[in-house]
Amino acid sequence: MSSQTVFRFPSGDGIDSLQTFIEPIPIIDKNEILIKVRSIALNYRDVAIATSTYPLPVKDQVIPCSDMAGEVTQVGDLVTRFSVGDSVLAPINPAFLYGPLKDEYASDSFGGPKDGMLREYIALQAHAVIKLPKSSHNFADWAAVVCTGSTVWNAFYGNTALKPGDTVLLLGTGGVSLTALIFAKAAGATTIITSSSDKKLEYVKSKFGADYTINYKTHPNWAAEVQRITNGHGVNHILEINGAATIEQSLGSVARGGVVSVIGWSQAPEKMPDVAMLSLRKGCAIRGVQGGSKQQLEESVRFMGNRELLSTVEKTFGFEKGDIIAALKYVASGEHIGKVCISLK
Ligand SMILES: NC(=O)c1ccc[n+]([C@@H]2O[C@H](COP(=O)([O-])OP(=O)(O)OC[C@H]3O[C@@H](n4cnc5c(N)ncnc54)[C@H](OP(=O)(O)O)[C@@H]3O)[C@@H](O)[C@H]2O)c1
Repeated sequence: MSSQTVFRFPSGDGIDSLQTFIEPIPIIDKNEILIKVRSIALNYRDVAIATSTYPLPVKDQVIPCSDMAGEVTQVGDLVTRFSVGDSVLAPINPAFLYGPLKDEYASDSFGGPKDGMLREYIALQAHAVIKLPKSSHNFADWAAVVCTGSTVWNAFYGNTALKPGDTVLLLGTGGVSLTALIFAKAAGATTIITSSSDKKLEYVKSKFGADYTINYKTHPNWAAEVQRITNGHGVNHILEINGAATIEQSLGSVARGGVVSVIGWSQAPEKMPDVAMLSLRKGCAIRGVQGGSKQQLEESVRFMGNRELLSTVEKTFGFEKGDIIAALKYVASGEHIGKVCISLK
């Protein structure tokens, strides 16, 4: 077999504009490995790209999606670290290996400026691939950790490290926040998570053991709830997944000397709070987090595998056009909890 099924967005005309193509399976060079994609995890970014609302450049006719886990089917002549049959995953940006993201490769990421993972086979340079540890996780569980795992690891350990005994606040029950909840609990932190839905909060409490929950719809001043729960101390780490829309509440929730990791973005409110003064009063750090390096992904994978951490995957869909469109629409609806994946045979 020398051809494969590939999905592309020929235009940014919406999720329904996804199209199927039959294209050659790549021929690998001596430093590459060929990977049979076994699962792809969706991110909100994929919806934004489909609907032309993504703020960064996107290549024409892009193959969407950045997160995959798969199996090695061929190994280049100079590759020694991998064998046929190895289970692997790859960072979103194959040039972002360690340290902070650099200008020269900032826009090299899969599924946006470069073709991504929504296909059966991909050839990758071996140095940018991570071998998966033996564990009970399946390919969907691993695909789900590519973007969220590296981003959360960067937020918790890329600067002021999370410590056992810290209190961590996670906003909403999406993929980033649930991954952070699982990692923070396993690292010995106390966790507080918010949601618009009591049902979702009950679920994350019973399934993932969140210590405290807050409904941000019924408590629009959720910073006051956080202060009540923490006896006025505030939280040491916050993963701010909404950006400008919720930064004032986050700064009201953070402890003195704490860290607000800015991960998501939204339109700034008409009256933007005085972020400089609010952070000065708390002596806190506000740190932008741009994904994570290969090293950070590798460390998060080791943590997940060695500690047999729970998976964030809520639902998996098939690798047919209709199923993929349904999966993207499910993510767009915001009804999901954690991660949504596309699984291939
Ligand atoms: N900087 C980076 O490297 C990076 C990496 C990954 C993701 N991101 C961005 O980070 C954001 C979150 O990503 P994700 O993958 O977790 O998205 P997701 O799975 O789509 O989850 C988003 C969740 O945010 C919650 N939410 C929406 N409005 C909220 C509000 N006002 N207050 C609190 N929570 C609210 C909702 O939770 P409930 O349904 O429970 O209310 C929703 O399910 C996205 O903007 C994404 O593009 C950035």
